[in-house]
Amino acid sequence: MFFVFEGIDGGGKSSQISRLLSTLSQNNETIVCKDPGSTHLGEALRELLLSKGDMPIDMRSEMMLFSTARTQLVQEIVKPALAEGKFVILDRFVMSTIVYQGHAGKLDPEDIRTVNDFATDGLQPDHTFVLDIPVEVAMERLGDTRDRMESRGIDYFSAVRSGFLTEANACDKCTVVDATQTIDQVADSIESVVKNII
Ligand code: TMP
Repeated sequence: MFFVFEGIDGGGKSSQISRLLSTLSQNNETIVCKDPGSTHLGEALRELLLSKGDMPIDMRSEMMLFSTARTQLVQEIVKPALAEGKFVILDRFVMSTIVYQGHAGKLDPEDIRTVNDFATDGLQPDHTFVLDIPVEVAMERLGDTRDRMESRGIDYFSAVRSGFLTEANACDKCTVVDATQTIDQVADSIESVVKNII
């Protein structure tokens, strides 16, 4: 089983991922990975993509770099783990690229889907949870210390939030969760969806 957490920055993915990890681990070996990250190549690309330097990165290059990190993650960790019957929880996946570089970054989402079909060898999550919070709450939670992506303005993040809602509504294996609720409430609604799927 392969579960993905998505959503605007500041939505509380990390806490919810830890909660789901403890629930799933009771029954099955479960691993958690970060996209981009979790492999040597992925961590190097993450550093390059998120650090605030003066190196220009075109939106197309940005899209390809996120997708490249994902290829390595899928090939090196996710596919082998699924083949061994483990559960996999990913902190972000293809939907993030479609939203951040497509809906908000103005690249064609269909081009991103095509590139990512190749990048992931067609791997699809069994279910995706989109943790939704208003942009103002996200900005407040992020505070003043922001990475390269988080430093983009409010218009960019408004497009990110509505992009996630658009993508989630068009997807039948996705659930939008109101992440302004308490951690326990959010975890309970996620757990009930997961129990149904399993
Ligand atoms: P994280 O901090 O949630 O791990 O995500 C890293 C940042 O990179 C976050 O601001 C979202 C952004 N991102 C993209 O712009 N495109 C992508 O494909 C992915 C996976 C993340």
